[in-house]
Parts: sequence; structure tokens; C-alpha cells
Amino acid sequence: MVSTAQPIDLSDVKFNACPVGTHFAAFDAFRDQADVIPGLAEGHPFYVLTHMEEIREALQQPEIFSNSSVTLGQPEPTFMWIPEMLDAPVHGKWRRLLGPIFSPASVEALRPKVEQRFDEILDDIAPRGRCDYVADVALRFPNTIFMELMGLPVEGADRFQEWETRILHGGNKGPDSVAAMGEVKAYFAALLAERAAEPRDDILSKALQWEIDGERVTQADLESFCLLLFMAGLDTVAMQLSYSTYHLATNPQDRERIVRDPGLIPSAIEEFLRYYAFVAPSRKVMSDTEVAGCPIRKGEMVHLPLVSANRDPAEFPDADKVIIDRTDNRHLAFGAGPHRCLGSHLARQELLVGITKWHERIPSYRITPGAEIREHGGQIGLDTLPIEWA
Ligand code: HEM
Repeated sequence: MVSTAQPIDLSDVKFNACPVGTHFAAFDAFRDQADVIPGLAEGHPFYVLTHMEEIREALQQPEIFSNSSVTLGQPEPTFMWIPEMLDAPVHGKWRRLLGPIFSPASVEALRPKVEQRFDEILDDIAPRGRCDYVADVALRFPNTIFMELMGLPVEGADRFQEWETRILHGGNKGPDSVAAMGEVKAYFAALLAERAAEPRDDILSKALQWEIDGERVTQADLESFCLLLFMAGLDTVAMQLSYSTYHLATNPQDRERIVRDPGLIPSAIEEFLRYYAFVAPSRKVMSDTEVAGCPIRKGEMVHLPLVSANRDPAEFPDADKVIIDRTDNRHLAFGAGPHRCLGSHLARQELLVGITKWHERIPSYRITPGAEIREHGGQIGLDTLPIEWA
């Protein structure tokens, strides 16, 4: 069924400083309304798909639903994020280059560092009795892991945190966001030049040797890859940790269960991934097609909010409830098809270490009384999460 209501304006689902859960509720309401909802983003037509079946199918048909644009308001983008904005065959070649860095074995080898970094954060935070979980824990942690992964000095992590906030937490579009993206690229350009002059045993030095079809990968492509990795790998883990902790702070019965039985943490993580899925990919339609009876023309865009798929009652019993020991949880939080998240093993490891270690040290905590928890659009996430403990 296609909505016959007025096309939505993208700004209707991209609020800033709104109460926690606002964006998820908006997507829930779309799903109740129709299978496909037309919209306009900066004058460009797009369609929101609202059910698991259609969202999964779109992600799995890259020949029709292309990654050449992943930004609703910009079907002809003037920028490139690698590998996110590549289609076959070149996309597959990049995935083969990147696969080993993010393989289960590589991620397992990183585990001692991941644990050490979270311990350091806890040593700093635990004695304080209160913190803003978003700034003091959730954003800091994946940043230090990213620095480890890329072979960068961990002291530089604060600068990453500032860039991340400017790029992703302001609705994604403002001039400051674009300026910050330029700064990130310039930072990596300088670093790549350093590594070219003096190679080390790190990813950037190795990346300088990468070849596709016998040709050395260009400096511009390496910068586009670093920018994408920065955007894909830091804020995602941070926001997933933040929503999970928000849930556990406001649902003490679930928190007490995982403290009593930490063996439940892996299934709780999957359930938080399902229920608080904040990534909403977009695709560009390459040939006239039809989704759930709705004709979509070549050149138009589709929006695929993963939370809509993950809360679809046709797919999950009690889809609107968080059930931390849910079984058979085939959610789409990491996407599907050729662009499925490359960092999912690392993400799961960071989530497991973060949630397990936190509850070993701070088993009981609550939202600071009187604090208003607000979230932003663009890449959906919490602005702050003030919590306190005895
Ligand atoms: C909870 C944390 C995370 C979530 C929920 C998440 C989610 C996603 C999703 C949904 C996609 C697919 C986007 C699309 O189809 O357009 C994706 C792609 C990607 N993710 Fe993640 N991600 C997370 C963490 C990470 C981490 C830690 C890294 C690496 C450090 C990472 C690296 C990537 C990359 C490189 C891609 C692009 C893959 C491609 O285009 O082939 N992600 N992620």
C-alpha cells in the first residue's frame, strides 16, 4: 500500500534536540501508515520503504538500488565515500582488500587493546559517581580503538571526538559539518604523506601499497576511504552503546538480569541493535521499478530505515518490546547485501567489552534526576546521557 498523504518533507524526520525516541517513533508511525511513503528532500523525490521484506530486498538488489548516491537530497553527489558509494565491480575489489583488516581473527587479535582501553576509561570515570555517558564514555571508547586500529597516537582521540560531533550531530548538512569533513580529509592526507615517507607497520602504510586491477590506489581514494571509516566506525558504536545504556538505566529489571547473569549480554546486545537501529541507508534507483505496488522512476531515491525493518511486527513477535533474551533475532542493524557492515565483528566486540566491563564495575546507576535526554537527527543519536551511581 502506498501512502496517498502529502509527500513528507525530510526535515519532518530529522529533528534536533528532540526527546529521546522521537525518530524511532516517527518511523514506527510511517510503517503503520503505508508500505511506501513518498517524500521530498531539497526538491528531490524519494520513497521511504517501511517494512522488512521490501527494505531487505532493496539492499540485496544493487543493480536496481545503487550506492552511487546514498544521500536523499543529493542524487548527483559531488563527493565520494569508499567503499560505501561504490557499486560492482569495483566495490567487490575494495571489499576484498579490506576484508582481512576486519576479519574475526583480526578483531580477536585486537581484543586485549579493546579491553585495556575500556578499563582506562572506567578507571577515570568510576570514582566520579556521575558522568555524561555519551561524551565521557561512548564517544571516547571507539575513538581510541580506531586510533589503535589505524596505528595513530591515542592522544589524538579528542580531536576526532570534536570532528565527529561537528560532522554527525548537527543534522549532517551545515557548513560546519562540511568544513569538519574537510579537516578530517586533510588530517589523513598529511598522515598518508608521512607514512609514504616513513612506512610503519600500520593500516595506512599498508594501504599505500594497495592495488586494484594492477593499479596503485590513488591518494584521493585513500582519503575517501579514511573519511568513510571515520564516519562509519566511531559514531555508530558510540550511539549503540548510548542507547543500550539509556535502556538499561531506565529498565532496572533488564539491568539486574544482565548483572546477575552476564551470559545474557550477547543476546541483549543483539536486541538493542534490533530495537535501537539508528542507521537509515539510502539508494539511487537505476531503472524504473515498483515496490509494493508503488512505481519508482529511474533517478529517484529510496530511504531504508533499518529500525522500520527491525520493528516490523510481520517479522518479529512482540516487535515493539525489548526482550533481552530474544532468540532467532535476524535483525538488519548491520544492513544486508553487498554493503553489509564491514565492521560488524569489531562493533560486536566493542559492545560486548563495553557493556560487560561497565556492569562489573558499576552494576547500579540511574539517569541523573531532572536531566532531559535529547537526541539529534542526521545520523540519529543521543546528545547527552547524564547518569549517576553510588
Ligand atoms: C554498532 C555499530 C555499527 C552499526 C550499527 C553499523 C551499521 C552499518 C550499516 C547498516 C552499514 C550498511 C550501510 C548501507 O547499506 O548503506 C554499514 C556499513 C559499513 N560499516 Fe558499519 N556499523 C557499525 C560499526 C562499524 C565499525 C566499528 C566499523 C569499522 C571500524 C564499520 C565500518 C563500516 C564500513 C566500512 C561500511 C561500508 C561497507 C561497504 O560499503 O561495503 N562499521 N555499517
